[in-house]
Amino acid sequence: MIDQTRLPAEEIYRTCRDYEEVAEAIRGMVIRGAPAIGVAAAMGVALGIKNSGARTIPALRHDFNRIAETLSSTRPTAINLFWAIERMRRVFETSLSCHNTDAQVVQAVRINLEEEAKRILAEDIAINEAMGRHGAALLPDSGTVLTHCNAGALATGGYGTALGVIRAAVSQGKNIQVFADETRPFLQGARLTAWELAKDGIPVTLITDNMAGHFMQQGQIKAVIVGADRIAANGDTANKIGTYSVAVLAHENRVPFYVAAPLSTIDRSLPTGERIPIEERSSAEVTQLGGVQIAPPSVPARHPAFDVTPHRYISAIITERGVAREPYTQSLSALFG
Ligand code: MRU
Repeated sequence: MIDQTRLPAEEIYRTCRDYEEVAEAIRGMVIRGAPAIGVAAAMGVALGIKNSGARTIPALRHDFNRIAETLSSTRPTAINLFWAIERMRRVFETSLSCHNTDAQVVQAVRINLEEEAKRILAEDIAINEAMGRHGAALLPDSGTVLTHCNAGALATGGYGTALGVIRAAVSQGKNIQVFADETRPFLQGARLTAWELAKDGIPVTLITDNMAGHFMQQGQIKAVIVGADRIAANGDTANKIGTYSVAVLAHENRVPFYVAAPLSTIDRSLPTGERIPIEERSSAEVTQLGGVQIAPPSVPARHPAFDVTPHRYISAIITERGVAREPYTQSLSALFG
């Protein structure tokens, strides 16, 4: 995996040789973004079982549970992590049910899990491309689109959710330029979105988070599009800290605010966004910038890494199966079929 903590200064790839290394990479934000975390977790499960010395089914189940627990404990907000692990668990259980010798079953489990992880990666790319096809029409033919955090190829198996919609619109010939919020404190916008779009030749301008309102007030932003880490059944959306403020500003300035996310980001067990778990990360990510202390060392800092945007601020949710609008409880549910 590309080491996202080193971008844009260095493009370095990390090879994870066991599930513990994958878990550490997720926890340490070497890989981040909800769908990418899901893909990495699936790969981690496959890797863990591949390396497991278990020879019997009970021993293999014990190892599977330990691997799943370790990967599940890395980051709490992005539901794609738990979705991917559950999908791997289903393949694990189905693989156990064939009536062969223990050795044959253990071998089949290894192969099936590896294939499933690769399938999750391939599907994620196709899902992003489908979101691009559904969402491109919502973006203006010409003008500036604001995005927050990084919801691009780096945050997914490839192509991106919010940036995938932008990519699709640009490839249809739309004359779009992007304003990227820098996204304090981890700077996903400045470091990753700016890097990714510049590499693709999509015009991108960096702004600090507190400039967004000013540009909206001046009529310079035609639309906002962001990704999501978890969407409740009613459309309330958890995404990178600062997204809620952008949504309120967009509402005040009558700028459409779109969320692009795969169905695997929708948590239908939560009726509203109130109970979405919000990760609190180290305060050092707030008090330090590039390893340099920027606040008095004695002052405490808070670092909720996500916030929840109420559905009333969201103009539409773009998924791989189509575009949902209010009332989301019905429209999202209909997309699941
Ligand atoms: O803490 P991060 O960088 O993992 O947070 C990522 C985001 O908030 C993204 O916007 C979200 O996961 C959507 S990624 C397609």
